[in-house]
Amino acid sequence: MDNVLWCTGHELKIKDAVKAQGSFIYDQEGRRFLDLESGVWVTPLGHSNPRVNQAIVDQMEKIIHCGYYNGNRIVDEAARALLKVTGINQGKAVFLSSGSEAVEFGIKASHKATGRGKMLRLHDSFLGSYGAAGEKQKEAWFILDWTQCQTCPERETCRKDCPVLKEIPYGELAGFVFEPGSAGGLVRFPPKSFIVNLVQLFQENGGLILVNEVTTGMGRSGKWFGFQYYGFHPDLVAMGKGLGNGYPVSATVMTGEVAEKLEEKSFYYQQSHQNDPLGCRVIIEVIEIIKEENLNNRSREKGEYLLHRLKEIFSGHDFVKEIRGRGLMIALEFFGPENKEAAYFHRELFNKGFIVSLRPGYNALRVDPPLNIEIQHLDNFLAELEEILNNYQAEK
Ligand SMILES: Cc1ncc(COP(=O)(O)O)c(C=O)c1O
Repeated sequence: MDNVLWCTGHELKIKDAVKAQGSFIYDQEGRRFLDLESGVWVTPLGHSNPRVNQAIVDQMEKIIHCGYYNGNRIVDEAARALLKVTGINQGKAVFLSSGSEAVEFGIKASHKATGRGKMLRLHDSFLGSYGAAGEKQKEAWFILDWTQCQTCPERETCRKDCPVLKEIPYGELAGFVFEPGSAGGLVRFPPKSFIVNLVQLFQENGGLILVNEVTTGMGRSGKWFGFQYYGFHPDLVAMGKGLGNGYPVSATVMTGEVAEKLEEKSFYYQQSHQNDPLGCRVIIEVIEIIKEENLNNRSREKGEYLLHRLKEIFSGHDFVKEIRGRGLMIALEFFGPENKEAAYFHRELFNKGFIVSLRPGYNALRVDPPLNIEIQHLDNFLAELEEILNNYQAEK
């Protein structure tokens, strides 16, 4: 990797990952690693899923890319499949390549459809790597710091006249970009009544609700989408990562009303890989597999088991701040600003052949396994983790 600019902010661990199949990644020496991070949370069906691979081969032999002047039946079919799982009837979809692009599209579309400038985001949400989504400056956004809501005694019975909600200039904002459960990679779930009130106040004042399901979508949370835990109807849904199970495709889905406004106002958004049939064929296959293998329910059940066992293993250890999760999206947060414990467990697990996620700058680990991971592999991980914990205690 001498001639590759490594600028991900993460240490290069496996120099040459030669094969990835199912829940495992193999290095050049034949060592195998259980990938409890699912790549960058992108392979809910496991690496190199044979059905997804076959769909890619079949579609490649027909048509990969159409250009700006040509449509394709598969693209329309993928749009219908996504509208169905999001519960948006009579809407439209656009297909892009990355999660950042899908969120960016949603923000630009919200600005255009409402004719308004800023949107609201929660202070700890991560929306994308560049463009408006990557912009974190105060001038670009109305940033709502919900820290005080996390410990508020009324957080489950939040009211619209709460000062936190009252100070928002709803009528001036294009809407709210909500990330339902990842919160900057730390797997936080804003309380239901807080979010439902915010959504209602925006919708009453002509604002749009764009949900960022790049991480939380496609069964990761135990439902198709994280917003489905909140019981509201979004106007736009941005998705990526698991949508392509490793193939780079993303999508933004919107209601018919939003699509109509964009069409009326001649909304313009042009990228080379927009509405490519190859990515759309992958999406159709991924949705089929999730349905046929009942992976939303399986993700929820395995997630409950994993969360329960992790809490059991770490119970009574005072350096653990919180272990939380929903579906197969779990975070272990440790006390202290330095990432001492997280780095220790991350390193020791890697040495034993387990990849978990370590976020630079945080004392937290994330576990996001493939939704179809075998219980026996989760149990191996838990057993090794328990041993590492015992060593950590002995060394302290
Ligand atoms: C919540 C969230 N939104 C958006 C993105 C951006 O997706 P991508 O890296 O595919 O551009 C990420 C990436 O990690 C993410 O976690």
